[in-house]
Amino acid sequence: MTTLLNRPTQGLSALRSRLPALSNPLRPLLLAAAGSGRLQRVVTGLPVSRAVVRRYVPGAGQDAVIEATREILASGRAISIDHLGEDTSDPAQAEATVQAYLELLAAFGRLDVPVRPGVPPLEVSLKLSALGQFIPEVGHDLALTNARRICRAAQAVGAWVNVDAEDHTTTDSTLAIVEELRMDHPDVATVLQAYLRRTEADCRALSGAGSRIRLCKGAYAEPADVAFQQSAEVDASYRRCLEVLFAGDGYPMVASHDPKMIEAALEIAGRLGKADDAYEFQMLYGIRDDEQRRLAAAGHTVRVYTPYGDQWYGYFMRRLAERPANLLFFARSLIGR
Ligand code: FDA
Repeated sequence: MTTLLNRPTQGLSALRSRLPALSNPLRPLLLAAAGSGRLQRVVTGLPVSRAVVRRYVPGAGQDAVIEATREILASGRAISIDHLGEDTSDPAQAEATVQAYLELLAAFGRLDVPVRPGVPPLEVSLKLSALGQFIPEVGHDLALTNARRICRAAQAVGAWVNVDAEDHTTTDSTLAIVEELRMDHPDVATVLQAYLRRTEADCRALSGAGSRIRLCKGAYAEPADVAFQQSAEVDASYRRCLEVLFAGDGYPMVASHDPKMIEAALEIAGRLGKADDAYEFQMLYGIRDDEQRRLAAAGHTVRVYTPYGDQWYGYFMRRLAERPANLLFFARSLIGR
C-alpha cells in the first residue's frame, strides 16, 4: 500500500502541491520532507543531527534505551518503547524489527520490575508498517503474524503492547489487526488521531470495557476530506473524543503535551468521578519533562513514549513539524558548528 508520506523517493514539489494549508505554515513542508529519501540522506549524514536527535531519542542501541527505562521508572513514570522504523517493503527488514522487539522484551524480563496486576510500567509501541503491513499481497497477514509474536513475548514478561496509528490509509487495516490481536491479548491498545474526521465515531466504537485507547492529535499530513486542517478544529475534536472515551468503560490514554488538553482531561475525569488509575497521561521522551514529573508526583500515571534505534529520520522530522521553535534550534545548531 503506497501513500502520500510513505514513498521516500517522491519529489518534494509533487508532495507540496497535494498538502493542505495548516495552522503552522512550516508543518506541510516539514512533513513532506519526512517522506523525502534525498533529504533523509542529507539530514542523517550531518554529524550535528545526531546531537539534536538525542533530545528525542535516547540512543540507537538496546543498552541506551534500557538505561533510559531505568531512569524513567526510577522517577515514578511508566514507559512505552518504540523501536524506530516504519514503512518497510522488505520482509527481512520486518523480521529484523520483530527480532529487535523480542530482544527488548527479553531485556525487560531481566529488569527486575515486579509483574503486578493493574497498570504495568512497561509497554512496547509498534508500527505495523515496520512489521510489513505495506508489503503487497501479504502485508496485512504478515503484520498480524509478526505483531502476534511480539504480543506473546510481551505477555510472558507482563508488558503491555500498543499499536501506533500511521497515515489515514492504514487506519482500517490497523484497527482490523488490533481487533484480531485482542481476541488472544485483550489488553492490546491502539491509537486514535483526533485530527481525523472519523475518530469521534471510532472512539464511540472502541470505548467499551477492557479497551485501551491512546488519543493523540495526529502527526501526518492528511487531506481535508479526511482530516481537520486548523488547530482549533483539531483541539475541539480532541475534547469531544476525550468526553467519549472517559464516559466509556475503557482505559483512556491522554497523549498530548498541550496544557489545554491535559486540563480538559483532568476536568472530565473529575466530573465523571474517574479514579486516578482508570486513565493515564502519555508524553514523548524529551518533551515537557518537568510537566511529566509534575503529573506523576501528583499521583497520575504518566507514560513516556521512548523511541530508540537508528531509523530516526521520520520521527525526528515529525517532531520538528510540531513546533517551529525546534526547527530554529536545529538550524542554530547547524550554524553554530
Ligand atoms: P501541540 O502540538 O499543540 O503542542 C502543545 C505544546 O506541547 C507545544 O506548545 C509545546 O510546548 C509542546 N510540544 C509539542 N510538540 C513538541 C515538540 N515536538 N517539541 C517540543 N515541544 C513540543 N501521532 C500519530 O499520528 N500516531 C501515533 O501513534 C502517535 N503516538 C503518540 C504517542 C504519544 C505518547 C504522544 C505524546 C504523541 C503521539 N503522537 C502520535 C503525536 C501526536 O499526534 C502529536 O503530533 C504530538 O503529540 C503533538 O501534539 P500535542 O498534543 O502535544 O499538541
